[in-house]
Amino acid sequence: MLTLENVSAGYGSFQVLFGVSLEVKAGESVAVIGPNGAGKTTLLRVISKLIDATAGEIRMEGRSLNAVPAHEVIGLGIAQVPENRRLFPRLSIEDNLKMGAYLPAARARFAERLEMVFALFPRMKERHAQLAGTLSGGEQQMCAIGRALMSGPKLLLLDEPSAGLAPVVVQAIFEVVRKMSAEGYTVLIVEQNVRQVLKVVNRAYLLETGRIKSSGSAAELLNSSEIRKAYLGI
Ligand SMILES: Nc1ncnc2c1ncn2[C@@H]1O[C@H](COP(=O)(O)OP(=O)(O)OP(=O)(O)O)[C@@H](O)[C@H]1O
Ligand SMILES: [Mg+2]
Repeated sequence: MLTLENVSAGYGSFQVLFGVSLEVKAGESVAVIGPNGAGKTTLLRVISKLIDATAGEIRMEGRSLNAVPAHEVIGLGIAQVPENRRLFPRLSIEDNLKMGAYLPAARARFAERLEMVFALFPRMKERHAQLAGTLSGGEQQMCAIGRALMSGPKLLLLDEPSAGLAPVVVQAIFEVVRKMSAEGYTVLIVEQNVRQVLKVVNRAYLLETGRIKSSGSAAELLNSSEIRKAYLGI
């Protein structure tokens, strides 16, 4: 579904990504793991066209994204949940979800998608009228993921959904990722929480200082001595 071939990118003269190649197939959940500053967020920004690749090619379902402007990316079926969630704090959960379904095609299916999101996040249903600004961190993350799903994306991009959350809430968020994966959503998730994310995705890539250092099935990476030493402390 999504292919990156030798993609380089950065900010001005500061290069962050160096020839990154990766692939996400339909129905797969794929993680990009790596430490602070490795370029994970930059990688998602380059896919959603918030910044341009300086070299290489990004393709969505065979179509090159190189010349596609950022505002058209959602129409191609790519929805991103940003690192800081960016909810509308003075709108209710339900209205925030509505904002995710602003494209005409999504508006027509609003009710159906809302039920789908509520099935994935029963807590959002219970609290649908609560203002987003008053939600806990974990609830905000659920609302942000739900909002992205309201556009009916083919591919969901998640930027460190567990960041800044208490361990028990982190569990709940990864449980949602596992559920989406089991239900066949196509997900690309970037995470520092290596141990937990590798338990819920199908495959993963290790990104270090802007380069893919290894890749494989989640089980392979969990068992790799490199990853065990550097990221799992065993
Ligand atoms: N807007 C920007 N302008 C200049 N440099 C930036 C900008 N955003 C990020 N960088 C730099 O690019 C590098 C990669 O940042 P990026 O945010 O992609 O890392 P990350 O892997 O997402 O890290 P984290 O896990 O801390 O979120 C860092 O050195 C960062 O300082
Ligand atoms: Mg980041």
